[in-house]
Amino acid sequence: MGHDLTATHTQLSPIPLHASRGLTLVRGEGSYLWDDKDRRYLDLMTNYGVNLLGHAHAAVTDAIKRQASLLTNAHQSFETPARQDFLEALGALLPPPLTRISFGNSGAEAIEAALKFARVATGRIGIIATHRAYHGRTFGALSATADAKYRDPFAPMLGGVRHIPFDDLDALDNVLDDSVAAVIVEPIQGEGGIRVPADGYLKGIRERCDSRGILLMCDEIQTGFRTGSPFAFSREDIVPDILCLSKSIANGPSAQGKPWEHLRRQSIGLRRRDRDPQGAR
Ligand SMILES: Cc1ncc(COP(=O)(O)O)c(C=O)c1O
Repeated sequence: MGHDLTATHTQLSPIPLHASRGLTLVRGEGSYLWDDKDRRYLDLMTNYGVNLLGHAHAAVTDAIKRQASLLTNAHQSFETPARQDFLEALGALLPPPLTRISFGNSGAEAIEAALKFARVATGRIGIIATHRAYHGRTFGALSATADAKYRDPFAPMLGGVRHIPFDDLDALDNVLDDSVAAVIVEPIQGEGGIRVPADGYLKGIRERCDSRGILLMCDEIQTGFRTGSPFAFSREDIVPDILCLSKSIANGPSAQGKPWEHLRRQSIGLRRRDRDPQGAR
């Protein structure tokens, strides 16, 4: 016998995965947010780097309205003008070796895809990540995330992932071997405390990866479009094999329903054209 759904009323409350700030936000404009008591706040959090263009930006709002009136959702086996526009606009910002793209719904999903691509491309399972790194909370992304408070309740993590100190090429030398598929690094650590590595760090990783057929993944989910140049990897003369983007690339429209193809929190894994499927050049 089933439930009588018309007679049921369940009071739902979110599982407290994040500490409540005790505020109800009702609107935003530019850099400001307002709560339900009409108090104004300067938004220095920006949803951890999502709302780069501010809240309720007129051009973003217009684009959402326009697209919502046309087509809110299309499977990736179809092309759409919005998706094509997006690919062209992003492609214009990327160095030529980055030519392949995969879409997801969040930053963590971009990392998941990147980890899977690295396995397939190299036939190896080892991943080197760094202390204080944050890559998201799905299982693969969490395995690469460093902080025990995020990881421990859900152990065991994905096999083959090791963490080494950030900004330390000697530490990297000690762990690189032929089991390693990829090194994943935030060019500037975000959650770890806005930590900018020494000049030469990214280049040093790139050279070490190249000499061993290991992929370099740059997690620019937080740094993308926020550091003065579109991508923080360009502060050194390197190109990653896989670039993960999300957050500010769409200024925050919902990812869940895949509603606005050119505005949603796009997450992107891009691969270099000049690498063979086994990872050796
Ligand atoms: C560097 C970095 N990678 C990955 C993520 C995960 O992104 P998402 O929260 O969209 O899953 C974040 C989120 O803060 C991040 O800062």
